[in-house]
Amino acid sequence: MKQGNQRIATKDGSHTLYVPELDETYHSRHGAIQESMHVFIDAGLKHLEPTHNQLRILELGFGTGLNAWLTAVCATKPVWFHTIEKYPVSIDDALSLNYSNEQTSENGETIFKSITTANWEETVTISTNFKLHKTQNDFRIAHLQPSYDLVYWDVFGFRAQPNLWEAPLFQRVYEALKVNGCLVTYSSKGVVRRTMEAVGFEVEKLAGPPGKREMVRAWKR
Ligand SMILES: C[S@@+](CC[C@H](N)C(=O)[O-])C[C@H]1O[C@@H](n2cnc3c(N)ncnc32)[C@H](O)[C@@H]1O
Repeated sequence: MKQGNQRIATKDGSHTLYVPELDETYHSRHGAIQESMHVFIDAGLKHLEPTHNQLRILELGFGTGLNAWLTAVCATKPVWFHTIEKYPVSIDDALSLNYSNEQTSENGETIFKSITTANWEETVTISTNFKLHKTQNDFRIAHLQPSYDLVYWDVFGFRAQPNLWEAPLFQRVYEALKVNGCLVTYSSKGVVRRTMEAVGFEVEKLAGPPGKREMVRAWKR
């Protein structure tokens, strides 16, 4: 475990990591898998799949690989998944999390292992529907492709890292999205919504996962 980080169980039984120096967890304490499914899979992937033959997804914050893994096991259309992370969780720490035991999928465990051990800085085929590209860099300077359909905005919370919820990063992501592409995130904080609107997003508030009243899906029109 990265020095200081602790593995904890959330209310749905799935693990997350707690970072004492930020007093922040990688996922909701109300349920890590439950939150990822609600915010990123159901409001993001599943919302766009009916209108797309394939999807290009950008994730800010690879973290434990949970969102990447759920996307791989839930996708019914081909996905190219680009994820950016500055401080990778070690392979041993990621594999000690109980995600692949939680989700019933025939080869879920193999897929989680392939995602965790995939080389950084190259595109790796994980399954028929899922290609993964992990970039180790800071979100604020990492190269973004010009054409994502969907963005998983999964940076640490506003309280812990307010500088990652400011206009310059939203602007970079807005420019990298396709027209009619969208961003999904677990935060619906007023100041965050106003910042998104200021850079051009059309902000939609949705019901949040357990423990959170609302979340946001923001569109580039
Ligand atoms: C909420 S966690 C992401 C959880 C992840 N999506 C998952 O499924 O486990 C936020 C992540 O952002 C990373 N991070 C923090 N600051 C960053 C920065 N400036 N650039 C890139 N990554 C950063 C953290 O190391 C952490 O892994």
